[in-house]
Amino acid sequence: DRSPSRGLGDVYKRQVENFLCTCMLVCTGMFASCSNTSKEEPISSVVERGLDRAEHQSLLMAKKLEPMEGKLPKTIKNDSLETSDYSWWCSGFYPGVLWYLYENNPTSELKKYAEDFTGRIEKAKNIKYSHDLGFMINCSYGNGYRLTQNETYKDVMITGANSLITRYSDKTGLIRSWDFNADIWQFPVIIDNMMNLEFLMRATDLTGDPKYKQIAISHADKTLKNHFRDDYSCYHVVSYDTITGEPHKKQTHQGYTDESAWARGQAWALYGYTMMYRETKKPEYLDQATNIAKFLMNHPAMPSDKIPYWDFDAPNIPNEPRDASSAAVMASALIELSLLNPGEFGDQCLKYAEDQIRSLTSSEYLAAEGENCDFILKHSTGHKPGNSEVDVPLSYADYYYVEALLRLKNLIK
Ligand code: GLY
Repeated sequence: DRSPSRGLGDVYKRQVENFLCTCMLVCTGMFASCSNTSKEEPISSVVERGLDRAEHQSLLMAKKLEPMEGKLPKTIKNDSLETSDYSWWCSGFYPGVLWYLYENNPTSELKKYAEDFTGRIEKAKNIKYSHDLGFMINCSYGNGYRLTQNETYKDVMITGANSLITRYSDKTGLIRSWDFNADIWQFPVIIDNMMNLEFLMRATDLTGDPKYKQIAISHADKTLKNHFRDDYSCYHVVSYDTITGEPHKKQTHQGYTDESAWARGQAWALYGYTMMYRETKKPEYLDQATNIAKFLMNHPAMPSDKIPYWDFDAPNIPNEPRDASSAAVMASALIELSLLNPGEFGDQCLKYAEDQIRSLTSSEYLAAEGENCDFILKHSTGHKPGNSEVDVPLSYADYYYVEALLRLKNLIK
């Protein structure tokens, strides 16, 4: 029964003391005679640097987009900022970043922009053609409601959750992800869909109606049964036969091959089962998250800075683009998993996540002030086989990076 805040607090205090000791000794030319010192920047300082830069960049972005009605940041294309409207699956991430930054530093300016950009995606609550309502509504309105208890946000969330569950089928026991490629996939479910289940858990909390939670659990159970290989890596797309309710195809869409381990898909899986264990306490979800974490942390194709290539089986490693978004999602999940599965394994998860955060907060990945079209992180990959969004900033990399920074900061407190 580890007490994370107390135990970790001591560890972090020692890091700060060692770092200060090193700085002092270096200054006085006595570095060689000092034992038990570390030149490593304390993680608390890394976290503060990351949050400062995230706030700086996000406010620049807000001021730039303020006059552009309905627009949200998407990525960089042809060296310029590319925006979207509410209907793109990533519309909720930037409002979510602003809410997290407001939680960290509750200024009226951050709140004003968080409210502005959240309001831009209200129409997403009525979308019934995609499963991405959790990403869109829960990251934006969900965080906004958590921090402000604004009743109008609650109404948007409930409407959005009702839209999402129209895509649930009793026959498959799953939420349908996509409607395209209907000639190939009868009922496609992508691993990413695990991320939308947290929204359904919140909908049960908000309404007292268990149906949203029941759908989420059914989806997680069926995904656990059908989406994973023996080594705990996962497929991207599993399509179900609508007559039998059983899988008829296991494929990829954004990965290298059907049998490869697409990096972000593995991170969605890790985050999804960690979150579902937090929400349900079903032990099989904790086992699944633990096994996925082991697959990822021990993977021979993981680079030394722990920021994955876009696919663990990409053919030209090490000459392949990285995916900082998968590292950010993975780090955030590992921090939570370290608390849910404490002890030696939890310590490994936390150390791994800290290493990822250190890399992401280095100049290699963290944007310099005012650069990177005001996104926070560089070097993510959206859809390599489609030659789309390769080695660019992506709003979800920023969202999960800031979430991970806050999760670490809460541990250090
Ligand atoms: N959910 C789509 C992606 O991860 O790229």
